Amino acid sequence: MKQKKPWGGRFTKQTADSVESFTESISFDRRLYKYDIEGSVAHANMLAKCKLISEKEKDAIVKGLNEILKEISTGKFVFKEFLEDIHMNIESALIERIGEAGKKLHTARSRNDQVALDMRLWTREHVQLTIGLLNALQKELVKKGKKHFDLIMPGFTHFQHAQPVLLCHYLLAYVEMFERDKARLRDCFVRLNKSPLGACALAGTTLITDPRQTAKLLGFDGVCENSMDAVSDRDFCVEYAFCLSMIAMHLSRLCEEWIIWCNDEVKFIEISDAYCTGSSIMPQKKNPDVLELIRGKCGRVFGHLTSLLTLLKGLPLSYNRDMQEEKVAVFDAADTVQTSLSILAELVANTNFNGDRMMQACKKGFIDATALAEYLVKKGVPFRKAHEIVGNIVRECIKVQCRLMDLQLAGFKAFSSAIEKDVYKVLGVENCIKNYKSYGSTAPGFVKKRILYWDKKLV
Ligand code: ARG
Repeated sequence: MKQKKPWGGRFTKQTADSVESFTESISFDRRLYKYDIEGSVAHANMLAKCKLISEKEKDAIVKGLNEILKEISTGKFVFKEFLEDIHMNIESALIERIGEAGKKLHTARSRNDQVALDMRLWTREHVQLTIGLLNALQKELVKKGKKHFDLIMPGFTHFQHAQPVLLCHYLLAYVEMFERDKARLRDCFVRLNKSPLGACALAGTTLITDPRQTAKLLGFDGVCENSMDAVSDRDFCVEYAFCLSMIAMHLSRLCEEWIIWCNDEVKFIEISDAYCTGSSIMPQKKNPDVLELIRGKCGRVFGHLTSLLTLLKGLPLSYNRDMQEEKVAVFDAADTVQTSLSILAELVANTNFNGDRMMQACKKGFIDATALAEYLVKKGVPFRKAHEIVGNIVRECIKVQCRLMDLQLAGFKAFSSAIEKDVYKVLGVENCIKNYKSYGSTAPGFVKKRILYWDKKLV
């Protein structure tokens, strides 16, 4: 004969084994144990303050819960599928341990507000963790930017050579992206940091309780205003999954680029052997598998966002068991992005940039053509006209196979009388970089300021 379920009062038959294993969540929600216990300790304190349990009972509960916490964290606790989830596993263990007092812990509480609380506590911590990992990656990018401040690379649009930029400027573009990701997470945190405890099953309770107190004890900014919303809201999971998806997308863009950059044809970077893997058949191979996997794992994260939205879209108020599935999605999305962030930070630190290759690449593709057009503008030629003139000059250079700077002054004059011998001060990669002026451009002065800014900001 099996043990009776905590909710078994109205049942005349035992749960089928198949139902037990189909409905369980202990296999994946056990990782909520810390938050579940933290919530229960706060709840017990509130119950004692409200005289719903005695001080002695509260002390026994808190002591018992702390022992269970220790058992779980040292791997000694035996989880039972039969008890469905982390909430009932802990509560049953508590009752087994301390007896009658343990049976009072669930006063003025339901698993519905309990699981909503655990998820908020878990997400709150993981939002912070993600912010920390983004910060660490930003720091590595800034470090590289500082180290290679003078390196110039071809900037691309349409993945064609466009205009030269400082490598540092390129790296800082990602730092900006990750800063927005952090801001998005902080914003998500604000909405998430409300306590659902007190909502009970869905309607609240007839008992005199103090949800504000539990909220305060748990460091929330306030209490959810509507009990039905409190137990059925998983917006914070969706928002977090969206934040993670955006990060994954940013990571994937960087990885895509660096996969190209370590290709033999390009060779802008060399990743340390420790961060590459080999081929089982081709002995010469050194592959950027880490970058590929980060790019690949992106799909998983987007998938979780979609599954969360789909999971919620048809749910009537308030709690529905469907919600149990949200954990699978959020946990894996967070794990995936967090491991990606941390390994990418390591990889960045272990990557060398090849300035010669970048400079060589800059020599191809007439990347000083825009500078020449702007030179003409400074000489009074309307931009559209200047664009046309430079287009013609480029065509000529392609024909005679030379760079813009290789043309003689007379050659330039044949296209525009506005061109004078100072034209050679704007041509060539270094001149281009030196001459950028606009705010936010790759002008070394601006980039240096930005580096200093990040250096101070990213502590
Ligand atoms: N394991 C459940 C979940 O994750 C806990 C809440 C169960 N509530 C209930 N009324 N059956 O959603």
